[in-house]
Amino acid sequence: MPNFCVTFVALNNQIMSVANKSNKTKVTTHVLQEMKRKGEKIAMLTGYDFSMAKILDEANIDIILVGDSASNVMAGYQTTLPITLNDMIYHASSVMRAVTRALVVVDLPFGTYQGNSKEALNSAIRIMKESGANAVKMEGGREIVESVERIISAGIPVMGHLGLTPQSINKFGTYVVRATDEYEANLLSEDAKILERTGCFCIVLEKIPAKLAKQVTDSLIIPTIGIGAGGGVDGQVLVLHDMLGITQDFSPRFLRRYHNLKEEILGSVQAYIKDVKTRDFPNEREQY
Ligand code: KIV
Repeated sequence: MPNFCVTFVALNNQIMSVANKSNKTKVTTHVLQEMKRKGEKIAMLTGYDFSMAKILDEANIDIILVGDSASNVMAGYQTTLPITLNDMIYHASSVMRAVTRALVVVDLPFGTYQGNSKEALNSAIRIMKESGANAVKMEGGREIVESVERIISAGIPVMGHLGLTPQSINKFGTYVVRATDEYEANLLSEDAKILERTGCFCIVLEKIPAKLAKQVTDSLIIPTIGIGAGGGVDGQVLVLHDMLGITQDFSPRFLRRYHNLKEEILGSVQAYIKDVKTRDFPNEREQY
């Protein structure tokens, strides 16, 4: 008869030791490559501010993406296009002040790298110098390869982003699944290879068929991180505000909501308003 108590304690100690160990080890681009090699999934979430980033880091998230989705969820714009380089540096600096373990990747915003490779390099250098982040992310394939190459030559790690690339929403005209036909699927597979050859350490695959995402993942040495790209990729990313249920008007099939934070905040704020109006707050213990 197995001793369940002893087994449980041993298992618990094992889990604690893994957690403590991973707490101390800073995630680097090299660690991510190793994770892919060992078949260990990579967990990435977006983060834009100090307080949330502190919680994400404490939870042992592998990568925090300071995404240009800040344009939507933090600034309230319809698209990711309006956010500026200064805005991104502000968000990235706030995140960096909180993080000790996670790798922090920052989106190069729309209009700061498409012009030419010198402009792209200057934008990436500003992000790295002024925020202290660990890497940048850029949307696109062969059309941005010269810029990617120049940035990597300057010692800045680059994460690629293929499939649905929200900065090109005006070209696509819609947020539907990309690369569903053979022509676009082939282009995407080639682009992934080009980005890997150019030196990208990782590629985000957004909203493409799961079968294609797996094929691309299997063809690469570098890890892929999927969002709406199925389970055959090396890791997953979600927008923090979506998975926590702070945003409620965005419900694509790929989004798993882990919480209904909007309702919780609403309830707390309403309770506070009631307590203030009824003079219940502050009470005698809550004053000097
Ligand atoms: O900006 C962002 O949040 C992103 C993710 C959706 C990958 O690019």
